[in-house]
Amino acid sequence: MSLEGKHVLVTAGPTHEPIDPVRVIANRSSGRQGFAIAAAAAKGGARVTLVSGPVSLKTPDGVERVDVETARQMAEAVAAALPADVAIMVAAVADWRVDVPPTKLKKSDGPPQLKFLPNPDILAELADRPDRPRLLVGFAAETESVVENAIAKQVAKGADWIVANDVSGDVMGGAHNRVHLVTRDGVEHWPQMTKEEVAHRLIERVSKELQ
Ligand code: CTP
Repeated sequence: MSLEGKHVLVTAGPTHEPIDPVRVIANRSSGRQGFAIAAAAAKGGARVTLVSGPVSLKTPDGVERVDVETARQMAEAVAAALPADVAIMVAAVADWRVDVPPTKLKKSDGPPQLKFLPNPDILAELADRPDRPRLLVGFAAETESVVENAIAKQVAKGADWIVANDVSGDVMGGAHNRVHLVTRDGVEHWPQMTKEEVAHRLIERVSKELQ
């Protein structure tokens, strides 16, 4: 397996969307799967850019890491990292941001009426760019109809592959993952394995695809 001379772009972790100057809306993504993929790509000889939301993980050896907080910052960092041969979008990006008031919400004002605005869909926007990476891989976190929903996302977002994972158990933050790889040729059901093993197998497939 060699990714020598290739640039692999990975997004990982959650995004944090502020609701006022001191509070955020977050999600349970730990970043472990995305970091493992970045590590495996670097081991395979690629130049790797890892755009990460707020996580408490060590940067893998040989990986260039760009830290961001919000979905809009992640979208900017992804665009700035192009061109890339492969993009693997593992981040659990918040679909909505909040129209942030300039001052802290006060309890005495009662329950806040948050106004939500749409965030950019980083994967879908990347698929539409003229400098779209040759191989664009998305993840789909699902709690039901896992493969069906993943195929729908592959089409809707213009991804080549979708790694579908069932997050109905303790996948988010856990050490293991059970995934289904949706390519344009069909669906592969992979057994449960560690996130490092998923990363290694995925990077092997990516490397083969680019040969
Ligand atoms: N994604 C993205 N930008 C977003 C939302 C999602 O780049 N604003 C990417 C994720 O990194 C992942 C894929 O799109 O690769 C699917 O993410 P997911 O959260 O499962 O999909 P959503 O479009 O948010 O759909 P839903 O939450 O309704 O299932």
